[in-house]
Amino acid sequence: MCGILCYLGKRQALPILLEGLRKLEYRGYDSSGLALAENGEIFCQKAVGKIQALENSLAGVQWKGSTGIAHTRWATHGKPSEANAHPHTDCREKIFVIHNGIIENFQSLKKTLLERGHQFRSETDSEVLAHLIEEHYQGDLAEAVRDALGLVEGTYGIGVLSAENPQEIVVARKGSPLILGIGEGEIFAASDVSALVSHTKEVIYLQDDDVAVIHPGGYELSNLNSDSILRQTQKVDWDVAAAEKQGFSHFMLKEIYEQPEAVENAMRGRLIEEEGISKLGGLNGVQDEFLEMERLIIISMGTSYYAALLGRYIIETCTDIAVEVDLASEFRYRKLNMKEGTTVLAISQSGETADTLAAVQEAKRKGALVLGLVNVVGSSIARETDAGVYNHAGPEIGVASTKAFISQLTILYLMTLALARHQRMSLSEGQAFIAGLKLIPDKIRRILESASKIEAIAGRYHGYKNFFYLGRKFNYPIALEGALKLKEISYIHAEGYAAGEMKHGPIALIDENFPSVCLAPRDSAYEKMVSNIQEVKARNGPVLAIGTEGDTELQKICDDFIEVPATDEILQPLLMVVPLQLLAYYIARENGCEIDQPRNLAKSVTVE
Ligand code: F6R
Repeated sequence: MCGILCYLGKRQALPILLEGLRKLEYRGYDSSGLALAENGEIFCQKAVGKIQALENSLAGVQWKGSTGIAHTRWATHGKPSEANAHPHTDCREKIFVIHNGIIENFQSLKKTLLERGHQFRSETDSEVLAHLIEEHYQGDLAEAVRDALGLVEGTYGIGVLSAENPQEIVVARKGSPLILGIGEGEIFAASDVSALVSHTKEVIYLQDDDVAVIHPGGYELSNLNSDSILRQTQKVDWDVAAAEKQGFSHFMLKEIYEQPEAVENAMRGRLIEEEGISKLGGLNGVQDEFLEMERLIIISMGTSYYAALLGRYIIETCTDIAVEVDLASEFRYRKLNMKEGTTVLAISQSGETADTLAAVQEAKRKGALVLGLVNVVGSSIARETDAGVYNHAGPEIGVASTKAFISQLTILYLMTLALARHQRMSLSEGQAFIAGLKLIPDKIRRILESASKIEAIAGRYHGYKNFFYLGRKFNYPIALEGALKLKEISYIHAEGYAAGEMKHGPIALIDENFPSVCLAPRDSAYEKMVSNIQEVKARNGPVLAIGTEGDTELQKICDDFIEVPATDEILQPLLMVVPLQLLAYYIARENGCEIDQPRNLAKSVTVE
């Protein structure tokens, strides 16, 4: 979604802002813009499309100022256009505002402002902020920003620059991430660490209602009531290289290849083999409540939701805990009784997904213990939950989630082990579980070695317009995830189904132009999967099966076969998902799609 970067320091702001905008590209955007201050004047430029378009429009611009704000916009109110791109400005073109989030009461605010004679240039909700600040401006920019924000309902991360206060930038947040980066004689503010980590690793995660005034001497933090506040500086543990492609043609491919390490990193230091248990340090403070829970509700969206679905299967298989799974966006519509013994687990790679954050807040209101499984350290969901576990997957830049998913699954296995050992799993079963898990990274490496075979299969399948992905039991959520991967990066219609559901309707669609990707490892659902494959074949549907290494019987009944190493059936999803990610990747590449930034999608969905 939209990205923000502000810079105030001694260096020329323009190249720093452009480089930073490129780092934010992965979040998804459709236009961009920036404003630079120099000698009491402000230069503003916007462009529709890629950052390159903005850069082209700046050819020959000699603006040397060392203060500026920049933005990538993902359209919500109003189509992608220069007028709708940020920064937005007031009537006098003195105040420039960049905004992430949504101003929910913008219609009524705009109506009042229009009645007071303000002239609007865009269709956006964000523009009201510039006019509201103008209304309240009496020489003190921060004061005017606070007054304006006091009238606003909704979410925001903002950066404000004024021609009348060219030596400062005012930033503020509520419900939309904003991070201050503290460099040597320079300060950054960004919606995402990736935009500033190449300059500084000292950061402050702003919290809701925080306002920061950035000036040449440093920064001042206060709340909306002007009370000074202190926030701790933290060190980002990202390696800059982690946010670069390192020779891979796309971030997505690099991240698929990083999955063996993602599994290792998620397990590191969390397994005690002698005792056959896992220890999740982030849950220390709530250990008893966690282990004694009777009911677990897992909330999340998209790929993280499919991780949750698998979580239900594995926790219910190994424990007596009743597990429910809900799309976070639907959770609020349920009238749930969070009686004692209910734990809610929110899964989110970004930790900023608005639907999941709102569901976390609702669960907390109802008194549940709320845990997080989050990749981005310091993110809103990580902060708002009572306790939680970090994935340690490193930055995931490709919009389509891959390594974060596999590390979410890994942590769900670790949680399952902790809960199961507390209940009925024996020591030897716990040790066998750990032994199986520890072999997974090398088995993923073996699948990655067969990537060229999957690439060749993609060459045969990329022309189809529709796909089914079928699986059962532990691999049903993986079928859903495989279908999502294909549709989001290749724009091919793909539906994931529980294979048993096929003959209740969807099978009507099968013909020689409608292939099915069938997940059929040698597990307890194997025979039934084989029957489902036969049903598809009987209707001339092409079948690409993903099965266990050496399964020649399966190979004989399908058109194409991708083999994965055998493992315990409960762990099999960690292997099954990898060929599906590669298949989606190679089909999308074959079709010339923009893999890392698919159309209409955003990495972190900060609007509901
Ligand atoms: C798909 C994908 C999305 C996210 C979803 C939730 O590849 O990445 O479906 O999984 O938007 O995002 P997080 O996990 O950040 O809450």
